Amino acid sequence: MLKVNNLYYKYEDGTEALNNINLDTSKGKVIGIIGANGSGKSTLFLNIMGILKPNKGSITYNDIPLKYNKAYLREYKKQVNMVFQNPDQQLFYSNIFDDIAFSLRNMGVSEDIIREKVVNALMQVDALDLVDKPIHFLSYGQKKRIAIAGVLVMESSILLLDEPTSGLDPYMTKQMKEIINKISSSKTIIISSHDMDLIYDICDYIYILSKGSIIDEGEKQKVFSEDKLLNEASLTKPWLVRIHEKFNTILFKNEEEFLSYEERKIL
Ligand SMILES: Nc1ncnc2c1ncn2[C@@H]1O[C@H](COP(=O)(O)OP(=O)(O)O)[C@@H](O)[C@H]1O
Ligand SMILES: [Mg+2]
Repeated sequence: MLKVNNLYYKYEDGTEALNNINLDTSKGKVIGIIGANGSGKSTLFLNIMGILKPNKGSITYNDIPLKYNKAYLREYKKQVNMVFQNPDQQLFYSNIFDDIAFSLRNMGVSEDIIREKVVNALMQVDALDLVDKPIHFLSYGQKKRIAIAGVLVMESSILLLDEPTSGLDPYMTKQMKEIINKISSSKTIIISSHDMDLIYDICDYIYILSKGSIIDEGEKQKVFSEDKLLNEASLTKPWLVRIHEKFNTILFKNEEEFLSYEERKIL
């Protein structure tokens, strides 16, 4: 279980990016951090990963405070890992297999097991057919999936996804949603996004981040009924919530539930 405790972070130029952040992963299985551009989502993730060091407060994993030495952080990454928003920040090799195998080779895992794990990770992101392609021929969405596979092979128990659908077209967004749903059966996921439909669809617990502070948290049905706070955070409501409020219909949990209800009614 990961906790962020009264965390403050200020950049060198004086920007106070995070103010008194508290977060607890035991609250949900898929946790959403929602906030407009510049609200502090990426800064929070970089603090959780130990890439940035808070000015005040702490990160604890299973009640043990994060330590900022290389050896500790290397071990920590086996438990808590992150996929960056921009896949180019994460992909280093020109060959997909080598890129995904990189961290396992560093750990001295045998080539037989590496092959098995890489194939498994590629299958989880629906990209096994890409394995022989040079990375520079991949589309942006394909790169995002390969970057996820590169982190999945580490089999961490918590995975942070920073804006996993930004820059994706609607079809790839849907595909990414399915991939995240699949991955979430085996680990806790924290997703940052300003795509409210995505967050409503796949998260069960949500934090609203506005100008570096958490202004609300809770189950998704509750958080998305708070007009004033959503406005304050410059966020809009998911379409399923808007339909529910306008037509006084059931508040469906996700698109799938809505669609299967419609089908039953027509039959
Ligand atoms: N390297 C940096 N130096 C100074 N300020 C930064 C830096 N990176 C981000 N910021 C500022 O910190 C705030 C939070 O940014 P960020 O965490 O990137 O937000 P988000 O990911 O929600 O878009 C913003 O005001 C941004 O301008
Ligand atoms: Mg960001």
